[in-house]
Amino acid sequence: MNVTVFGTGYVGLVTGACLADVGHDVMCMDIDADKIAGLGRGEIPIYEPGLEAMVKQNVAAGRLHFTTDAAKAVAFGRLQFIAVGTPPDEDGSADLQYVLAVAKSIGEHMDDYKVIINKSTVPVGTADKVRVDVRNALEARGQQVDFDVCSNPEFLKEGAAIEDFTQGARIVVGTDSERVKALMRECYAPYNRLRDKLMFMDIRAAELTKYAANAMLATKISFMNEIANLAERLGADVEQVRHGIGSDPRIGYQFIYPGCGYGGSCFPKDVQALMRTASQAGYEPALLNAVETVNRRQKQTLFTKLMQAFDGDLSGKTIGLWGLAFKPDTDDMRDAPSRVLMEALWDAGAKVQAYDPQAMRECRRIYGDRDDLILVADRIQAVKGADALAICTEWKDFRAVDFDWLKQQLASPVIVDGRNVFDPVRVKEAGLLYYAVGRGDSLQ
Ligand SMILES: NC(=O)c1ccc[n+]([C@@H]2O[C@H](COP(=O)([O-])OP(=O)(O)OC[C@H]3O[C@@H](n4cnc5c(N)ncnc54)[C@H](O)[C@@H]3O)[C@@H](O)[C@H]2O)c1
Repeated sequence: MNVTVFGTGYVGLVTGACLADVGHDVMCMDIDADKIAGLGRGEIPIYEPGLEAMVKQNVAAGRLHFTTDAAKAVAFGRLQFIAVGTPPDEDGSADLQYVLAVAKSIGEHMDDYKVIINKSTVPVGTADKVRVDVRNALEARGQQVDFDVCSNPEFLKEGAAIEDFTQGARIVVGTDSERVKALMRECYAPYNRLRDKLMFMDIRAAELTKYAANAMLATKISFMNEIANLAERLGADVEQVRHGIGSDPRIGYQFIYPGCGYGGSCFPKDVQALMRTASQAGYEPALLNAVETVNRRQKQTLFTKLMQAFDGDLSGKTIGLWGLAFKPDTDDMRDAPSRVLMEALWDAGAKVQAYDPQAMRECRRIYGDRDDLILVADRIQAVKGADALAICTEWKDFRAVDFDWLKQQLASPVIVDGRNVFDPVRVKEAGLLYYAVGRGDSLQ
């Protein structure tokens, strides 16, 4: 099939590459000319395991193309995936300007039947808005061309995006058209062989399914952080509690890790957007409000612990930081807990000496050159001479550590661990002060 994908970010580029990889002919369009020029030279703008090789192979095979030309992109595919960003608006609702700009441009250029597929995460009712904007653009040209709009939310997670796209648990398609069902079935057939993962449903149900899934996962995290905060005050070890409850199959081990809060490009904005949708529908989302409040508070936890460890004065201190990305295996720092920590440290007059295996370039892009941010080449440099070590991301590289060595590097023997990476007994044996999340004797 000929497929067009609008947006070459985490979702668009993975969608384009994975569909090309099974033999479809794919045209990826982006308004970011630098990104498209880089992709043309084989440069991948993001870090995502396996993506670079997949893009290169499919470009070489002539099945994956890049353009900034909207007319060319619209003419190319029968299927038109919209995978552009939906960042939060000032009031927390999803900003649809990029999605609707694509809808308009499809209407301005289409000459034959198209299926317009909302893959971006968009609030309930967006398919109707896309339909109106496409129709308006067609009418402005005096054209009447048949088209359908469907919802096909994406559930991939960064760091395992290719695996999730190719072997995901489900492929949700919201549509009431038999023609769309047949085309979507054909598009996804190569990834739908083991069992039928396609779930057809109403458009509104599909739109809400994406938000419900992310809100549920965010709820699990905030719930566990609430229990961790309680454990700290009660002198219990939340890691033992996690084992205790995770063993119940009704609860499960996934997404019940306590930590310094969830970040990333999806959970924070999607929970907020769903809260906004709820209020617009006249419903007070009491649970979602709490999930969001607990998470905001949790992102302060490492700073609070550091302040307490240094008697309320961090000015002139240098904090070594391991991990900038919002989670391992990505370079994405959108809404990352590391940003909340660094910004609080700077406000308190401290310096940050940071290392991340993939997010250094992104950190430099966000914060630029500043005296109180020292970006270093490896985890060793990050702790050399630092007054304390803070851990924000549980990269594999950070898990095995010689604690005696670590103690020698640090000016004060303080570790605040936002991901509960270490065994507290081992750390303390080396004479380090170890403040993790919800581990009984942590600072609060
Ligand atoms: N990142 C994730 O893990 C993830 C997972 C599931 C769903 N989503 C959703 O998918 C959508 C995209 O997310 P992302 O992380 O890939 O975003 P992103 O910011 O990485 O990429 C968006 C891309 O769209 C491009 N763009 C903007 N306007 C455009 C236009 N008019 N035409 C063509 N391209 C345009 C931008 O230049 C950018 O390259 C969002 O709605 C997000 O919520 C993201």
